[in-house]
Amino acid sequence: MSFPNTRLRRLRKNDFIRRMVRQTHLCLSDFIYPIFIKPGTHVKNPIQTMPGIYQFSTDTVIDEIDEIYELGIHSVLLFGIPVKKDSVGSEAWSKDGCVQKVITAIKSKYPDFIVAADACFCEYTTHGHCGVLSGGELLNDPTLANLQKEAVSYASAGADIVAPSGMIDGMVGAVRSGLDDAGYQNTIILSYSAKYASAFYGPFRDAAESAPQSGDRKSYQMDPANSDEALRETALDIEEGADIIMVKPALSYLDVLCKVKESFNMPVAAYNVSGEYSMVKAAAELGYIDEKSVRDESLISIKRAGADIIITYFAKEIAKEGVLRL
Ligand code: PBG
Repeated sequence: MSFPNTRLRRLRKNDFIRRMVRQTHLCLSDFIYPIFIKPGTHVKNPIQTMPGIYQFSTDTVIDEIDEIYELGIHSVLLFGIPVKKDSVGSEAWSKDGCVQKVITAIKSKYPDFIVAADACFCEYTTHGHCGVLSGGELLNDPTLANLQKEAVSYASAGADIVAPSGMIDGMVGAVRSGLDDAGYQNTIILSYSAKYASAFYGPFRDAAESAPQSGDRKSYQMDPANSDEALRETALDIEEGADIIMVKPALSYLDVLCKVKESFNMPVAAYNVSGEYSMVKAAAELGYIDEKSVRDESLISIKRAGADIIITYFAKEIAKEGVLRL
């Protein structure tokens, strides 16, 4: 049937009707809130390029968790920034690492709170690459062995979810077997399965102090021009044991997100990355856009494209507003 019998504007007449036929909704349980942790005490350093986001120490972060817990955010993704970096990132699997301490502290206060730990090495290495480096090349298999130690260390501290993010071949299989061998069969793996070599990570690298000291990450993260490869990467990670898969970044990769969701019957996460956050904040600061409307439209587009879970720096401020407007 076509016009004049069909008039699509009938269902756009007012806000109540639009809400009634709305297909996509955001809720707080969609969100995972990223948090940056430094060793020490009394730290709450604002990240200059990410207004509203801070680095916390192991004590101040608990106040932050109390606050977001009360606001209705029940899931975080932790990133650690050690004082002591070395060539392989060994602080990542230290029993006394700042992430390990915080995981244990959160889980002892809030046993049901979902704690995910990013498992990578760029924050932990002096060279800022995501594993073992030799002659400028990131070595795959030696990195896997370290990744197993890191994953087991987070699981033994009490992490519910381990999230390998280095785009190392075989990383999910290595993490799964490492966890299983150590008795952590129930630890969830959230794999950064389709992660692109993206300039949208710029502000994160300030927050996590993890910029590569030389070269770039193009030999391990994906080429932004490819989408078939995203499906191959994701299929491999599922075969290796991923429980949740991910597309990252989100907004420039909504086509990939949609294909991944349609190809696999799996929970899919999308990472609304630092650059996506900071661009909204900066443009709003200049008065060029309406911040909340652009933010909400971006997040709903990520959900509409197929994300079940959205990792976003906006989670706390949205929760604070008390209403989800979309
Ligand atoms: C790697 C990691 C990165 C991000 C999450 N995990 C940075 C990178 O790959 O360079 C980026 C997240 C963001 O930009 O918000 N540990």
